[in-house]
Amino acid sequence: MRAATIRDGRIEVVEHPDPEPQDGQLLVRVHAAGLNGADLLQVAGHYPPPPGAPADIPGLELAGEVVSCGRRVGRFEPGDRVMGIVAGGGQAELAVIHERTAMPVPEELDWTAAGGVPEVFTTAHDALFTQAGLAVGERLLVHGAAGGVGMAAVQLGVMTGARVTATVRNEQCRTQVAALGVQAIDPEGFADYGPFDVILELVGAQNLTGNLEALATGGRIVVIGVGAGAVSDIDLRMLMHKRAVLRGSTLRSRPIEEKAITARLMEKMVLPGFASGDLIVPVAASYPLDEAPAAYDRFKAGKKLGKVVLEI
Ligand SMILES: NC(=O)c1ccc[n+]([C@@H]2O[C@H](COP(=O)([O-])OP(=O)(O)OC[C@H]3O[C@@H](n4cnc5c(N)ncnc54)[C@H](OP(=O)(O)O)[C@@H]3O)[C@@H](O)[C@H]2O)c1
Repeated sequence: MRAATIRDGRIEVVEHPDPEPQDGQLLVRVHAAGLNGADLLQVAGHYPPPPGAPADIPGLELAGEVVSCGRRVGRFEPGDRVMGIVAGGGQAELAVIHERTAMPVPEELDWTAAGGVPEVFTTAHDALFTQAGLAVGERLLVHGAAGGVGMAAVQLGVMTGARVTATVRNEQCRTQVAALGVQAIDPEGFADYGPFDVILELVGAQNLTGNLEALATGGRIVVIGVGAGAVSDIDLRMLMHKRAVLRGSTLRSRPIEEKAITARLMEKMVLPGFASGDLIVPVAASYPLDEAPAAYDRFKAGKKLGKVVLEI
C-alpha cells in the first residue's frame, strides 16, 4: 500500500507492506484522513507516536470501508463504513483501527467530511463536556475557533444551548464563524467580553492571564492546544478567588479503554447532530494522497476554516 511517509523531516508518498489486523482490529481501506497539528509536529520530529503506532506514517484519524476483521471482532463486518481516531498510520491506503475506537459513518457524511470528524469532534466533545462539564445556558469562550477543533467546539456549544463567544484572528474566518450565530471577536481584548463559565484554550499560554480575568466564579479552563506558546506566569490567587479549575488534556496517549469511551460518547451525543443538521464538517481544502506534501503546506499556512483532508 502507499502512504504519506515521514522522510528526513518531509512528507513523501511511498510504498509500505500492508498492515494486518490483530485481535479486535479492523483492516480499513481508507477513503479520507484529516490532517492535524500533531502530524506537523511529528514530521518535524517533535511528537513521536506512542508504542504500537507506525513510526513514519502520520495520521490520527481516518474514514473508510472495512476490508477484513481480526479475531474477536463483533461490532463491524467487511463493507461497513467506519471512522475513528488512531494513534498513527491513518494517512495510508490501508490502516488498522481497533473496533472499540471505530464508529459508524453517519449516512449524511461523504468520505471527505467523515475523514475530518474523529479527531476534532472527539477532542472538542471530550474537552467541553467530559473535562469541563459545559451545561445548557453557560457562557463558553473558544480560542482559535476557526480551526478544526474550534469549529467543532463552537458548533457543539451552540447545539447544547451554551452562549458561545469565539476568538478568531483572521478577519475573513471571523465572519464565517459569526455566521454560525455566535459572537466572533478579535483575540485582542477578549477578556472584556467575559465572564465565561468555560474557556477552551486552543492557542496557548499567552491567553492564560486573560482567561483567568475573564473567568466566572466556579469557571473551568481546559487547555488543549499550545501551538503559540506553552509557558506562562499566572497569579494563583486569581485561581483561588474564582474557585476556578484549570486543567489540560491530550487524546493520543490515552489507553484504548479511555479512547473507546470517547467513541461511545461520540456515537451517542455527537453523531446524531450530523443527521439533525446541527453539525457540519467545514473542510477548507482536500487533496489526493499523491499531493500530501501540498496538503501539509496548506495546513501550515493557516487562515483556514476547519479541516484539511487527504482523499485516498
Ligand atoms: N490535546 C489534544 O488531545 C489535542 C487534540 C487535537 C488538537 N490539539 C491541538 O489543539 C490546537 C488546535 O487544533 P486544530 O486542529 O483546531 O488546529 P488548527 O486547525 O490549526 O487551528 C488552530 C487555530 O488557532 C489559531 N491560532 C494559532 N495561533 C494563534 C495565535 N497566536 N493567535 C490567535 N490564533 C491563533 C489559528 O489561526 P490562523 O489560521 O490564523 O493561524 C487557527 O484558527 C492545536 O495546537 C492542536 O495541536 C490537541
